Amino acid sequence: MSDASTTRTYQIAAIPADGVGVEVVAAGRAVLDAVAAGSNGAFGFGWTEFPWGCGYYEKTGRMMDEDALEVLRHFDAIYFGAVGWPTVPDHISLWGLRLTIAQNFDQWANVRPVRFHPGVVSPLRKAGDTHLDWVVVRENSEGEYAGLGGRNLAGRGPGNEVALQTALFTEKGCERIIRFAFDLARSRSVTKVSSVTKSNAQQYGMVLWDETFARVARDYPDVATESVLVDAMAAKFVLKPEDLSVVVASNLNADILSDLGSALAGSLGLAASANYNPERRFPSMFEPVHGSAPDIAGQGIANPIGAILSGALMLDHFGLHDQAAQLREAVDATTGSGVLTRDVGGTATTGQVVAAIIENLTLKPAVLPAQGT
Ligand SMILES: NC(=O)c1ccc[n+]([C@@H]2O[C@H](COP(=O)([O-])OP(=O)(O)OC[C@H]3O[C@@H](n4cnc5c(N)ncnc54)[C@H](O)[C@@H]3O)[C@@H](O)[C@H]2O)c1
Repeated sequence: MSDASTTRTYQIAAIPADGVGVEVVAAGRAVLDAVAAGSNGAFGFGWTEFPWGCGYYEKTGRMMDEDALEVLRHFDAIYFGAVGWPTVPDHISLWGLRLTIAQNFDQWANVRPVRFHPGVVSPLRKAGDTHLDWVVVRENSEGEYAGLGGRNLAGRGPGNEVALQTALFTEKGCERIIRFAFDLARSRSVTKVSSVTKSNAQQYGMVLWDETFARVARDYPDVATESVLVDAMAAKFVLKPEDLSVVVASNLNADILSDLGSALAGSLGLAASANYNPERRFPSMFEPVHGSAPDIAGQGIANPIGAILSGALMLDHFGLHDQAAQLREAVDATTGSGVLTRDVGGTATTGQVVAAIIENLTLKPAVLPAQGT
């Protein structure tokens, strides 16, 4: 039995950033605070919100403060919304905030579960009668998003510009994400890892990835494996998703495949993600997969479930597995009872979905993990 004197407070840096990011972070905070309130004083969240994003850029010329990384590194986790607004070029907003945080905090494992929810109609015909549930594991520190290259290299003048965008693959980078995927597969009911590359056309980096995958696989004889080219994997997501458990891929390929996965589950608004620094030297960052959705921002109709389930991943990260499971059950009870936003065929507002999820939380007393887990 815990009381207020034993409260463990997790310090969370909230960065809602732009567009619907602001709405879904507020929604996620409300639900996570309700989960904490149900813990009978065992744990709570100390929120510090930062105003960084495109609006901040327009005022200051920076996407975040100069000392932002120094400030953020002392938090237990980062809860992120979405970055990007039509007034700022996307490569400036993304590199100035989200990618800077992910790369400097070595959040090299991006985990993106593809979950199907009761009451949400999937465009996949077989979703109704087959249990579908897989996880995309995205290499999050190098690959196609290493930021290497240049423009106008020869200064050849208008109409003759040259741009190079180089993908970086290191054996260490490949190995650590592939091992992460195998370890994750061992924790799932279907112990299988599918590795995705385009090594027939990209004969250097992706062949290194394939060879590393084959080598690491020998250490996990209990885990089934396959290597699939990314175009074939896109088709497999649609035609044979029941064959998938853990799908590991490079930065760009996994980014694209996870959007496909969440669309198949019904909406981009449902998809959660965690950017882990598995060594826990830096805070990990939890965010919905979707962007700032300028087309629906400010209307109170954004689907908050992707952000809320990212909160469930954060609870798991803190070792609060029962609370995470209860939160997922509350989400499923909500979608199952037909309380759905417009993107998944309903009429509910963001606020109505949040209220229903809080209503559906059936919290049991929290058992806190030992400090440091
Ligand atoms: N992680 C990030 O911060 C991130 C990720 C992707 C895109 N972006 C940025 O977001 C901006 C918009 O990009 P985009 O339009 O390509 O992608 P997007 O994810 O913002 O929107 C794509 C489509 O999905 C819908 N959608 C997205 N989130 C939703 C939600 N929660 N509820 C209901 N519908 C939702 C949108 O209305 C839109 O029709 C760009 O500036 C882009 O750079 C940021």
